Amino acid sequence: MSSTTSTLNVDSKSVELAVKAGTIGPSVVDISKLYGQTGMFTYDPGFTSTAACESKITYIDGDEGILLYRGYPIEQLAEHGDFLETCYLLLYGELPTAAQKADFDYRVTRHTMVHDQMNRFFQGFRRDAHPMAIMVACVGALSAFYHDSTDISDPQQRMIASMRMIAKMPTLAAMAYKYSIGQPFVYPQNDLDYTSNFLRMCFAVPCEEYKVNPVLSRALDRIFILHADHEQNASTSTVRLAGSSGANPFACIAAGIACLWGPAHGGANEAALKMLEEIGTPDRIPHYIAKAKDKNDPFRLMGFGHRVYKNYDPRARIMQKTTHEVLNELGIKDDPLLDVAVELEQIALKDEYFVEKKLYPNIDFYSGITLKAMGFPTSMFTVLFALARTVGWIAQWSEMIEDPSQRIGRPRQLYIGSPKRDYVTVAQRG
Ligand code: ACO
Repeated sequence: MSSTTSTLNVDSKSVELAVKAGTIGPSVVDISKLYGQTGMFTYDPGFTSTAACESKITYIDGDEGILLYRGYPIEQLAEHGDFLETCYLLLYGELPTAAQKADFDYRVTRHTMVHDQMNRFFQGFRRDAHPMAIMVACVGALSAFYHDSTDISDPQQRMIASMRMIAKMPTLAAMAYKYSIGQPFVYPQNDLDYTSNFLRMCFAVPCEEYKVNPVLSRALDRIFILHADHEQNASTSTVRLAGSSGANPFACIAAGIACLWGPAHGGANEAALKMLEEIGTPDRIPHYIAKAKDKNDPFRLMGFGHRVYKNYDPRARIMQKTTHEVLNELGIKDDPLLDVAVELEQIALKDEYFVEKKLYPNIDFYSGITLKAMGFPTSMFTVLFALARTVGWIAQWSEMIEDPSQRIGRPRQLYIGSPKRDYVTVAQRG
């Protein structure tokens, strides 16, 4: 990593600041000493210009629409790889050899069951509880069930906790779904691959044989690959911030799930599908486009726009192809939602407002239609996102723990409240 300097003039002081260059992407101005030298903080709400860490995991070029995991383009991983191989890559930094892959798959598979007492934990929730609420609680609760892997200073415990989380997320996600529809939990079956196993745990019932559809399993596996990591997004930054205090990994991932739930982040696929349903037919699209452009209307086109991508989200392209594969496989020829989606995309891509603001479809625009066709209710969409993103959160959390420069994350503020004033008793307040 090369290093130069830049000069910042504040008040009458001139400060030399190091400029650090990464392998690709924008360089950063190192302002860590700025407060000590000038008594000033920097101000960047929403962190639009702030790099919070160094990372070797994921690279995004939002202007060009590029996404790399450990240097590998997302298109190549989605086309040729599988999700567990992607997990290995994100965790260890390299693609596995055949033997390493077999060993990793075996280790993850051997951790798929959850402590049987977790079953009783579920009974405490209302049947209509949102599965994301259940996931936040259950993943946080794993630290109570697997306390033997919560010592973050022990690399071996960190790796066991990582394996446990990658392996148990599908089991917990399927349990949350089964609980919501009043069906018995289906235990994992270890001769199935990761994603087929998850589909079976969601859709099998004890009274009949369940045969996994390989096309759907491959499509869902690809969706997991697309969602596996996305550098320092809101939920990942939440995980890093929670982890910076030394909190155990299960608690940190629970914090990430809570953050992901919001409609501006992982909740957008649920919101995008609801929006397509609300629009209903292509002839109603112009009305909704007008609403999205109206500054006095809070409505936004869900599944459009991204903080980082100011070009077509590369994941959205793959997702669009996957959507067609799934609908073809299921024989869904005329899906009104897809008609609305295709038309909406065409209109928005040509509309001056969206072109000027560089608002392109993001991954959530198409993922909802695909997951719905597979049989998942909308309330499960963000859960599937959390399942896939767990490996990214863990890889980023581990990288942070292993970083010798790691300190507790503690942003500063620009205070705009009242200056110091004296307390007045109730009797004296006018
Ligand atoms: N529909 C209409 N207008 C939009 C949209 C949209 N979906 N997104 C952004 N804009 C407009 C904003 O009103 C703003 O206009 P202005 O400059 O005239 O004030 C401008 O585009 C920039 O938008 P910001 O909100 O400042 O951009 P930011 O980077 O903060 O937000 C976000 C990005 C949250 C994704 C936003 O585009 C959005 O709300 N999109 C819809 C929700 C969504 O699809 N989220 C999924 C994100 S991807 C993911 O988490 C996997």
